[in-house]
Amino acid sequence: MQFTRLDPERLTERDVLDATEFFAAVNAVDRPEWPPTPRAGIEEQLRSAHIGTEPGTFWLGRLEDERLAAIGVIRLPQAENTELAPLDVRVHPQLRRQGFGEQTLRLLVDQAREAGRTRLMGSQMREGGPGLPWSKRFGFRPAHGYIVQDLQIAESDPALWDVPVAPGYQLQDWIGPAPEDVIESYAAARRAISDAPSGEMTYQDPQWSPERVREDEAEIAAMGAEQRVVVAIHEATGEVVGITQLFVYANRPKHGYQSDTAVLAAHRGRGLGRAIKAAMMRRLVRERPEVEHVSTQTAADNKWMAQVNHQIGYRTLWTHFYAEADTDLVHERLGE
Ligand SMILES: CC(C)(COP(=O)(O)OP(=O)(O)OC[C@H]1O[C@@H](n2cnc3c(N)ncnc32)[C@H](O)[C@@H]1OP(=O)(O)O)[C@@H](O)C(=O)NCCC(=O)NCCS
Repeated sequence: MQFTRLDPERLTERDVLDATEFFAAVNAVDRPEWPPTPRAGIEEQLRSAHIGTEPGTFWLGRLEDERLAAIGVIRLPQAENTELAPLDVRVHPQLRRQGFGEQTLRLLVDQAREAGRTRLMGSQMREGGPGLPWSKRFGFRPAHGYIVQDLQIAESDPALWDVPVAPGYQLQDWIGPAPEDVIESYAAARRAISDAPSGEMTYQDPQWSPERVREDEAEIAAMGAEQRVVVAIHEATGEVVGITQLFVYANRPKHGYQSDTAVLAAHRGRGLGRAIKAAMMRRLVRERPEVEHVSTQTAADNKWMAQVNHQIGYRTLWTHFYAEADTDLVHERLGE
């Protein structure tokens, strides 16, 4: 298998088409519940990989007959997590158990070592799937489990989103950059996501500040995504105390990606999480009728968030794990 590094500025038609077919084949086996991503959506993902504080590099592994056998991705976070390299290895379902995964891992581990990353993280290895036993063999240990949840809009009763906000609070929403007058407390509320359980993961959430929020907003726009935000404002202080975010990508218009939701500790237990998520759905269906489903992932031990999601119509599809290992250990196990 020969690897080529994908240049996001110079994608070829062939690479995009092959990657689209590749991910359709992989997902049909590894997550059949998921609708296939259209070609333009795959192109968008490949093109935007290098953007942001966690730039990624895609490697395409082709056989002699040019078939795409494996895709490896390595990310090199630039703000937090500068000792860590998140990796992703996918092998075409028809070509598994022939050593291609191991070969791809070897390439990524070499890259991580060159970049001075002492720790590796493998992501989204589905319970019962091949990723966990495979990664264990090379020294990875599961660090935390997450449930993947999905809300099918046509099958959901909109009455589930009629959730009033508790007395003393107001909702506010926007698309794109946060209004300047709430940016300070919005950034502070975003930091509350670090309270979510994260098991044995060494991965650190961003230390949100107004500047980091602005950088993040610019990165999201550069990726071609619309960032939709709903916040809860504490009337007595005028401060943002709860936030929820959802992304809709330009070329994946049927899929909404529900991202962070966080409520400051002093304001928990008043239904704010449910109220902001429900308000997110009300506005989304009104303004984005082409969105068919919304997905999210939540720590498997975060019962509170999972329950809020169930209350507004999400169903749990599967559990997957993030696994971590010391780079030296994996290097040694690969027999180098
Ligand atoms: C996990 C994955 C990358 C493995 O790719 P692969 O090319 O089949 O793996 P390899 O042939 O290099 O396997 C090397 C060794 O790992 C172990 N292994 C691989 N798949 C395994 C499985 N399903 N069950 C148990 N052990 C497994 C075996 O010890 C294997 O050696 P063997 O075949 O001689 O017994 C592939 O199944 C895949 O793409 N899965 C979906 C995505 C995923 O979970 N990726 C990992 C996230 S980083």
